[in-house]
Amino acid sequence: MSPRLRKYLRRHARSYVIGFLLGTASAVLLMLGPLVLRLAVDAIAAGAALSSLLRYAAVLVALNLAVWILRYYWRMHILGVSRVIEYEIRNDYFAHLQRLHVGFFQHTRTGDLMTRAVSDLSTVQRFIGPGIMHFTSTLVLTAIAAGFMLAIDLTLTLYILVVLPLVSLTFIVLGPLIHRQYESVQEQFSVISAQAQENFSGIRVVKAFAQEPHETEAFAVLNREYIRRNLAVIKTDGALWPLMSFFLGLAAVVLLWQGGQAVIAGRITLGQFVQFIGYLGQLAWPMVALGWVVNLMQRGLASMKRLDEIFMQRPRIVDPAGAQALPAPRGEVEFRRVGFSYNGSQVLSGIDLHVPAGTTVAIVGPTGSGKSTLVNLIPRLFEPTEGSVLVDGVDVRRYRITDLRRCIGMVPQDTFMFSASLGENIAYGLEAPDAPRIQKAAEIARLAPDVADFPHGYDTVVGERGVTLSGGQKQRAAIARAVARDPSILILDDALSSVDTDTEEEILRQLRGVMATRTAIIISHRISTVRHADQIIVLDNGKIVQRGTHETLLAGGGLYADLYQKQLLEEELEATDLDAPVR
Ligand SMILES: Nc1ncnc2c1ncn2[C@@H]1O[C@H](COP(=O)(O)OP(=O)(O)OP(=O)(O)O)[C@@H](O)[C@H]1O
Ligand SMILES: [Mg+2]
Repeated sequence: MSPRLRKYLRRHARSYVIGFLLGTASAVLLMLGPLVLRLAVDAIAAGAALSSLLRYAAVLVALNLAVWILRYYWRMHILGVSRVIEYEIRNDYFAHLQRLHVGFFQHTRTGDLMTRAVSDLSTVQRFIGPGIMHFTSTLVLTAIAAGFMLAIDLTLTLYILVVLPLVSLTFIVLGPLIHRQYESVQEQFSVISAQAQENFSGIRVVKAFAQEPHETEAFAVLNREYIRRNLAVIKTDGALWPLMSFFLGLAAVVLLWQGGQAVIAGRITLGQFVQFIGYLGQLAWPMVALGWVVNLMQRGLASMKRLDEIFMQRPRIVDPAGAQALPAPRGEVEFRRVGFSYNGSQVLSGIDLHVPAGTTVAIVGPTGSGKSTLVNLIPRLFEPTEGSVLVDGVDVRRYRITDLRRCIGMVPQDTFMFSASLGENIAYGLEAPDAPRIQKAAEIARLAPDVADFPHGYDTVVGERGVTLSGGQKQRAAIARAVARDPSILILDDALSSVDTDTEEEILRQLRGVMATRTAIIISHRISTVRHADQIIVLDNGKIVQRGTHETLLAGGGLYADLYQKQLLEEELEATDLDAPVR
């Protein structure tokens, strides 16, 4: 069994033990039933009075009442504790995923993570709840019944104990097959969830490219495979249950045949025979359950294994031993001979860059040149494969991660909004959100004028991923979110690409005001965004190919000067286009 699961079970051992004791007590009382029946039958045979029969009936009712109450608390204890463990595992699973590094999520499908959290976890719960409950109960019931039966007749008991387990055995033999089939059902379900989830996230693209029929068909194919696998399970299942009934019937026949003879021969009384039939009845369900439970356990363990696969992932980016605090960050950033590769493909190499505290550096370069990768190294979203990144002169790997990230305000290239209010989105990184701070940030990001037009102002809910905002509004909301934290280092990754040049200029002017004493790292494809930076670096193919100020770079020629000329030309063309008469 998974050591992790064992740990949860051990933590709740007390509830299980109490449940087990209650279950055992109820089993003993339950098994007294056939005994009372026997006494009654023997009394009838001996010509008992009606009043004594009523007494037996009353005892039977009392017994059943007691069993009912005991079983109620038995189920409450074991099923209840299984729900508590399910709850704990779900919390731990989520917390664990939160700790994992960004890289993990890039090669794991969200739908798959969801399936494990929902479907696999509930399979585990069925194992540690009903599974364990019925398993222990069957063992106890069989042991007690066997004791009572042995006290009556050895041969008859042996017959029963040979035939009855065939019922469980059916399940145990077919179990591994069902188990394999079930696993493949589960896998397919993961695939379906992942597919649906991705489809809904990308619904705009699906619609824009009129891919609904294609997506529907692709989904139907997956779903068909799912039902095919499910039907395979049903086929095995279908063979299973009738076979078990057959064995139960067989046990009854054997009992009738052998027991009947014993009664005729006078070896046992009619009452004892009835008592035997009683045990057969009482044991029928537990025997069926035993097989079912073995199957539940197999499924539960398989599902726990799938959860363990995720739990076993170690976060790659963690606090170092003796992590350093960063109480008063200045905001100096330095790259020393930094190289980086994603799974072996080199993206950055030999990056040397010094950004003194309070200055602005701009990064330009062709698409795919490694700009986003470069800035992702500063908050340790990824880790350099060579060299080191320093903040305030200390390797970022030596800081407490929360301290490091707290001093950085980052606007990623693809902005993300949560399905919450605009205000909550802006205040996302704040420990104590307050309205003035949110407003101030929105003003700096030039979002405030737009907010004034929103129906509920800052309380306007922006929809999943912020779908109800325009691209430019989303970008400005993301800038406001970064600025609201009052960061020592502000990183804008192409964060002004969706706003017009006038708004851009306004935002940059505002930013220069608040960021006068802070460090800014700005990635852009537009010369207008970067020209005022203290330092501009040009990245090409993962290497810094040029560096300087706007003026020196222009004078030097090369990539930057080319880019400038091209954009100048475009602007002129646009201008002449506007002036041209409409044909
Ligand atoms: N998660 C990833 N896994 C593997 N390769 C990646 C990953 N992210 C980026 N890359 C690759 O790394 C290179 C640099 O990507 P990066 O996003 O840093 O470029 P960029 O300069 O920001 O481009 P753009 O201007 O288009 O935003 C690209 O070749 C890209 O394909
Ligand atoms: Mg990028």
